[in-house]
Amino acid sequence: ADALKIGIAGLGTVGASLAKILVERRDMLTTTCGRPIEIVAVTARTKGRDRGVDLSAAEWFDDPAAMARDATIDVFVELMGGAGDPALAAVKAALSRGVHVVTANKALLAAHGVELAAIAEKNGCILNYEAAVAGGIPVIKALRESLTGNTISRVYGIMNGTCNYILTKMEKEGLSFEACLKEAQRLGYAEADPAFDIEGNDTAHKLSILTTLAFGTKIAADDIYLEGITNISIDDIRAAADLGYRIKLLGVAQRTDTGVEQRVHPTMVPLDSVIAQVDGVTNAVAIESDILGELLMVGPGAGGNATASAVLGDIADIAKSRPGAQTVPALGRPAAALAPYKRAQ
Ligand code: NDP
Ligand code: HSE
Repeated sequence: ADALKIGIAGLGTVGASLAKILVERRDMLTTTCGRPIEIVAVTARTKGRDRGVDLSAAEWFDDPAAMARDATIDVFVELMGGAGDPALAAVKAALSRGVHVVTANKALLAAHGVELAAIAEKNGCILNYEAAVAGGIPVIKALRESLTGNTISRVYGIMNGTCNYILTKMEKEGLSFEACLKEAQRLGYAEADPAFDIEGNDTAHKLSILTTLAFGTKIAADDIYLEGITNISIDDIRAAADLGYRIKLLGVAQRTDTGVEQRVHPTMVPLDSVIAQVDGVTNAVAIESDILGELLMVGPGAGGNATASAVLGDIADIAKSRPGAQTVPALGRPAAALAPYKRAQ
């Protein structure tokens, strides 16, 4: 069968991990997907940098938008980050010419997700973004596909690996906030600007995507009560433990009679709850729905391999689908069918 041709934009923590897996597991993926997956184009900021994998057979592009516009690819894989250009222009260019897109970029989706979903629908292509929320946990698939027909009342959980890693290390090893953040950066968990992690914006971006999938309303990333973990001290963590609680940065979205409530803030969770036991870079997302009941998904929330695993799953879904077949709308329902966002009173 014809190979699925992909272009990768961004060869950092996630992009390089993905490229390595695609090269090392080529035969296995060919069997699983029924066709080979070939990296035919790549772009990053720095040409010639060693990425730990031989990409010499792929065409190099200096400009991500040019790669999206001109490369002979079936899928544009966006792993650069950032809500604006070059990611925005490149993703738009790819979708506009009917090229499928896979991205891990929650900042981009929180800002432009509805617009991008509409372009994808218009051009009959797929926009997949499993890695954008909770790393390797298949929460997008759960909301977009598995829970179809359920009415969802609440989605909440630990959605930022960097913050959970910092809070865990501070408590268990008594290390300073700054030392824990440095370690999270070294391990490839943090955003390029870690303020997005520790001030809660990254959790807010992810929550806004889950809200849309759960409640069918337009993305409203700006309407989220936001408080990060920068003011949490070791004393706070110890005081919470003395009272029988652990402090976790939670994102919570719930449906009320008057609208949707979205919030991100440090929360005291009882020590004997499952969420309190979720340590380190691990994330946990709970979804409460009427047919299924409560679903709790726990797993690696950040890092090169965990994230690449989710990106790979999205690419494999496209490899296995019929060319051009958009079977599941990007945001769970057609973009035009999303209800206006209404904040709870
Ligand atoms: P990195 O900073 O490690 O990598 C970013 C890559 O994009 C680099 O290769 C960089 O090039 C390239 N790049 C950045 N700006 C440009 C530009 N203007 N033009 C061309 N290339 C550019 O980021 P990550 O791999 O950690 O993250 C990538 C995406 O995945 C982000 O959206 C992030 O939010 C998301 N994500 C990350 C996770 C993680 O655990 N790291 C988990 C889930 C999602 P160069 O290498 O030459 O500098
Ligand atoms: N910086 C993010 C985190 C990456 O720590 O969770 C995964 O989205």
